[in-house]
Parts: sequence; C-alpha cells; structure tokens
Amino acid sequence: MKNELSVRNLIATEEAAAFFDAWATDEERHAEGFIQIMELVADGCEEDLWERLDARSHNFSAINEYLKDEFSVMVMIAFDEMCTCRAYAADKGFYAGLGSDRFVRWLREVTADEAVHSMNAVNVIRARYSDRIGEVGTILDGLTSSVADESDYGGTFVLDYFGEKYTKEMLANCHAAILKNVAKPLTTAERDGRSGRPS
Ligand SMILES: [Fe+2]
Repeated sequence: MKNELSVRNLIATEEAAAFFDAWATDEERHAEGFIQIMELVADGCEEDLWERLDARSHNFSAINEYLKDEFSVMVMIAFDEMCTCRAYAADKGFYAGLGSDRFVRWLREVTADEAVHSMNAVNVIRARYSDRIGEVGTILDGLTSSVADESDYGGTFVLDYFGEKYTKEMLANCHAAILKNVAKPLTTAERDGRSGRPS
C-alpha cells in the first residue's frame, strides 16, 4: 500500500509523509503479531504464512477512485482505520478465550493504535484540506457502499471488510464518526503549530 502511494506520487504534504512513516511501522508490527498468534493458535508455520501473504497479488483497481490524490487517500485511511479499530475491539471475546491475558493486552494495544491512526489521518485532513471538508461525506458514501465481499478483495490492505463484524450498522457508525472528527475546528495550538514552523 505504502509502495503504491509512492509509485503514484500521491504523498504531497510533509504531514502526510510523517503519517505514513509511522503508520507503516505500526502496521508491520501488527502483521508480525497476528502471524505469531496465528502460529500459536492455528499451528500454522510462520514462514508459510508470510509466504502466503507475500504471494497475494495486489490489485488496486478496486480502490482506484480513492487513489486520486492525498486528500482522498487520507479520507479512505481514516475510515478504514476506524473500521478495523472497531472490528478488533469486537474480537475481544475470541482473544480472551485464548487463555492468556497477553493476547487481550496485545489486542488492546493494536485497537488503540488503529484509533490513533484514524485520528492522525483526520488531523492531516483538518490541517491541510480544511477547504475540502465538504467532500468528505461523498467519499465516505462511496466507501461505505463499495464494501466488497471477500472474493473481490484485491490484496490492497485497505477495505478488506468481510466477516460478520463489518455490519452495515458498524460501517455507518464509522462513517458518522469520521464526519464528526473532520468537522472539529483546529485549536489555536494546532493552528500555531503550522504557522509557527518555518516552511
Ligand atoms: Fe490499520
């Protein structure tokens, strides 16, 4: 995903560049953790799982319309991270059943990371694209209605919504939460942070 963004030259602001650096590091850590857990739980071999993950083809055509510019990418990611955050939170029972508190603690950390990612993406939009806040709703409408089933998932890393946790209601709640978050006015500190920095 990050690679695709740089190929398409989509990262335009330093705020977004900083966001993606932190995001990619976190997501790699998450993937590693999930694979270790799968290995423990499902008795799969770690190398095998990585191989299968790497072998997945990446077809970004399904999300092409959200890869137009940095703004639409940030809206997509803000929404996606909100959805995964809530989906992980809904998985708590499963992790609790694995027999060690460490699983639940790990899940809590991952869930918190996803919430931070969503908010950080929202903050890039608030800081850089305040003149385009009015477009966020339309993009979110498209995202919510284009939620594909598993057979359509192109290995894009985002919008891989399948499984019963991703209900219409949950997606609608995420839609509403993002709209609310992007509409929050910048605080004086946030505004000063930008204008006070040499460009
Ligand atoms: Fe994520």
